[in-house]
Amino acid sequence: MATSNLNPTLSSSSFFLLLLLLSFAAGGIVFPPTCERIECPSYNVIGVGKGFEIRQYPWTEWVSTAPIDDISFVGATRTGFLRLFDYIQGKNDYNETIEMTAPVLTEVSPSDGPFCTSSFTVSFYVPKKNQANPPPAEGLHVQRWGFKYAAVRQFGGFVSDESIGEEASALYTSLQGSIWAFVNEGRKDDPKSVYTVAQYNSPFEFSGRVNEIWFMFDMQGVKHVYAN
Ligand SMILES: *[C@@H]1O[C@H](CO)[C@@H](O)[C@H](O)[C@H]1NC(C)=O
Repeated sequence: MATSNLNPTLSSSSFFLLLLLLSFAAGGIVFPPTCERIECPSYNVIGVGKGFEIRQYPWTEWVSTAPIDDISFVGATRTGFLRLFDYIQGKNDYNETIEMTAPVLTEVSPSDGPFCTSSFTVSFYVPKKNQANPPPAEGLHVQRWGFKYAAVRQFGGFVSDESIGEEASALYTSLQGSIWAFVNEGRKDDPKSVYTVAQYNSPFEFSGRVNEIWFMFDMQGVKHVYAN
């Protein structure tokens, strides 16, 4: 493309198209289609690598289940999601209905329970409108996050018990050898939190599904990258 051909009065829509193309070229992510219809938390992309990106989430709020012990990620997520769905339908201390948001997060950790079970905490992103005063509800708790960082890998389709392990190892591998490899190292210090799975679509959407594996990490690591 000859630069001289660029029209200086580039319309804003072609400008956005250009930005979109550039962000593809830079390996930027494609926003899940659901985020055009329902609220998603905003974030800053502070790093991009082959097969992953690094995000900073400023000040988000989540309503979370108690840890659910299960042998199946899919089963535990369904249990947790149904509880959270009741919550937004008005089963809370204020009888208040809340708009659906995305993503639904499932944090996967090893559990102290019987062999092969894990512990799953399922969380719903609280829309901005409700963040000042989210209704309390039995069995659920509100998490207010300050600045949080996540190394993120996206994948499509329906999440299965098999695919999450594979996608998490792919994220681990892609981080190794990059300047973000310390994210893998740092996670060994916190064996409680293995990884988080973010799902953006309802079970009734069959195409264009977007899911993500998140390895969350703290600020210290980011300082480490910028210091080197
Ligand atoms: C919520 O609904 C229940 C059952 O209809 C009622 O008993 C309760 O008083 C309501 N609470 C509020 C805060 O409106």
